[in-house]
Amino acid sequence: MDRLNASTRRNFLKQLVLASGILALPISVQSASKSIHTRKIPSTGLDLSIIGTGTWRTFNVGNDHQARLKRCEVLRTFFEMGGQMVDSSPMYGSAEEVLGFCLNRLGSIAEPLFSATKVWTSDTNEGRQQIRDSHRLWGIPEFNLLQVHNLVNWRAHLDTLFQMKADGKLQYVGITTSHGRRHRDIENIIVSEPIDFVQLTYHLQNREVENRLLPASLEKGVAVIANRPFSGGDLFDDYQRYPLPDWVKEFDCHNWAQFFLKFVISHPAITCAIPATSRVDHMIENMGAGYGELPDDATRRKMLRHISALH
Ligand SMILES: NC(=O)c1ccc[n+]([C@@H]2O[C@H](COP(=O)([O-])OP(=O)(O)OC[C@H]3O[C@@H](n4cnc5c(N)ncnc54)[C@H](OP(=O)(O)O)[C@@H]3O)[C@@H](O)[C@H]2O)c1
Repeated sequence: MDRLNASTRRNFLKQLVLASGILALPISVQSASKSIHTRKIPSTGLDLSIIGTGTWRTFNVGNDHQARLKRCEVLRTFFEMGGQMVDSSPMYGSAEEVLGFCLNRLGSIAEPLFSATKVWTSDTNEGRQQIRDSHRLWGIPEFNLLQVHNLVNWRAHLDTLFQMKADGKLQYVGITTSHGRRHRDIENIIVSEPIDFVQLTYHLQNREVENRLLPASLEKGVAVIANRPFSGGDLFDDYQRYPLPDWVKEFDCHNWAQFFLKFVISHPAITCAIPATSRVDHMIENMGAGYGELPDDATRRKMLRHISALH
């Protein structure tokens, strides 16, 4: 199935969606033909699909061949449904190597890829070597985005990345944090450094970034990647046992994954959310969040009231 033509692939996807029965029929059939929402990357004005994917834990499957093939199908579904940004890091064990394996297998199906990885070391020279290793592991000559992971040795690595960008070897430079860590430092960098992207944690139960980091990013024209949009899966444990209210259909929401993701991506500062999954059926649900209506401000408030009444 590596080299299916476009219409066979579309049919394959529709069959998959229908067989899984996880989306309501109208949106499942339509989502393969409608376009996914995109947001502009402020520093270039280029469009990026609003749902990307992460690889922490989910792609760290080492040499297990069956597990690798399963991840390739997850990625195939991602690209088939309009995904672009794939986020990884040298910190994620074998994830970059597994990604490279899948990108190679998927061939032209993976062409929409927007590649994003990270530098994660306290040693500046080792950081340069990490970037070379990441190129080799992914099997690509250039990344779209390189980020300083968790601000480790950030001043030195930003110098390296800005130089790569100036030399035409890198499109975008970014920084990352997660779990609400070091927000003061992140804000200072957003305001004072010419970064293109910031990656941070934003989800229904952790909205601290709404106070300062998201407004600062909007103001400075910095694209925002929302990591851990399911709080690492905890949101499912907390809410999935409850039925979804009927009114969520008004914004084309058909499952809890879409409830969580549509809340995140409907914030105007968010450029892309990067949920991670090891399963094709979950990938279909997650990508489905990028289609159809998004909640407006009043609906976002209603969503918050609804979940706080449940938990
Ligand atoms: N500092 C940083 O730079 C940093 C820190 C943290 C994360 N990140 C990035 O952000 C990405 C996302 O964060 P995360 O992986 O921590 O957590 P997440 O995306 O919030 O949650 C992932 C978990 O949700 C489950 N899941 C996904 N889709 C689902 C669905 N439709 N229904 C039910 N369960 C579902 C997955 O299990 P299944 O496999 O069973 O679907 C997995 O256990 C990471 O992979 C990484 O790329 C970056």
